Amino acid sequence: MSADMATGAAADRPASHENQPTEQVQTAPLLAAAAGEAPSRPPVWFMRQAGRSLPEYRKLREGMPMLEACFNPEMVCEITLQPVRRHDVDAAILFSDIVVPLVAAGVGVEIVPGTGPVVAEPIRTAEQVAALPTVTAEQLRPIARAIGLLRNELGATPLIGFAGAPFTLASYLIEGGPSRHHERTKALMHSDKPTWHALLDKLAGITREFLRMQVASGVHAVQLFDSWAGALSERDYRELVLPHSTAVLGSLGDAGVPRIHFGVGTSELLPAMWEAGADVVGVDWRVPLDEAVRRLSVAGAERPVVQGNLDPALLLADFSVVEAEVRRIHAEGRAAAGHIFNLGHGVLPETDPDVLTRVVELVHSLEP
Ligand code: CP3
Repeated sequence: MSADMATGAAADRPASHENQPTEQVQTAPLLAAAAGEAPSRPPVWFMRQAGRSLPEYRKLREGMPMLEACFNPEMVCEITLQPVRRHDVDAAILFSDIVVPLVAAGVGVEIVPGTGPVVAEPIRTAEQVAALPTVTAEQLRPIARAIGLLRNELGATPLIGFAGAPFTLASYLIEGGPSRHHERTKALMHSDKPTWHALLDKLAGITREFLRMQVASGVHAVQLFDSWAGALSERDYRELVLPHSTAVLGSLGDAGVPRIHFGVGTSELLPAMWEAGADVVGVDWRVPLDEAVRRLSVAGAERPVVQGNLDPALLLADFSVVEAEVRRIHAEGRAAAGHIFNLGHGVLPETDPDVLTRVVELVHSLEP
């Protein structure tokens, strides 16, 4: 989609700029847990809760390409609300994608069903990095408008905004699409460090702009997805990625919203991801939450707050298995100053949505 399409007719109203939580939202379980305070019930939401596990989502999306849906404020609003209505989750997450700000800026990216983001011209040279555009508030206006619509609909349920972290975005841009080994990314980051840092600096700027727009438009929390950071050693992460993610999260330090920082396979990176400026550290299923809390405490976090970490694949097991896992994770989460129940990664499309609803009921029946 071109930048012109992204600023089309539905984008004519400016963002509301009313990001003070209403009184109702202020006491929401998710925001209490994120602040390390006692929630009225254990908060739970699911990464990728808005999406293909829901028949009502598939119906609405029929014939409409993913990115077209992401720039249609009414569609974004409706899809974001679907899982809130169905599951009674403690947060809505904005329906969008990590490549949306790149598309808004005019970078040639498609989302291919079953594959993910595919980049028309992979970015691998200093000249290409220099030519990468920035993104403007005007180009992001349809998303600001969607957030405005959601603020009117959501009542007491907080809205989570999000963005892709510079490393994960860079991997898509350099590889040209989803990658198992991130080999070209790793080759570039080690053989041409100036170009690597120039690229991450640009992406951090785009990410910052995208998140600040979301906060100004009224989201109550933000999550930075560094989904593929777990491919890196801690040493490489600290030298080549952490400064750029810190620039993003640090720029939101005075925004008044909790910042969640998540990646997959990041057991060795949890302290560094916390140091980047996270209020809440997202944990995948590979490390138990009490162990995650121990690692964060050793690194100096005084009252770590964690989010996670049910293996999404286990939602396809018998419910007795799911129940035992939910209870174990909830018990382990008590080691933290706050725990937001979630999966360890996104909902798989094959998931029975009724199982998600039962997980929410079960979590809500447990001790806050
Ligand atoms: O969590 C939510 O409910 C909000 C929606 C959301 C989407 N993408 C919608 C989506 C969020 C938070 C994302 C972020 C995202 N996108 C990430 C980070 C989260 C993670 O999973 O680690 C990443 C790596 C992407 C890139 C991306 N976009 C992938 C890997 C895919 C899946 C490709 C496929 O078809 O299997 C997408 C497409 C995408 N993003 C879909 C949805 C609902 C599927 C497209 C469709 O429904 O046609």
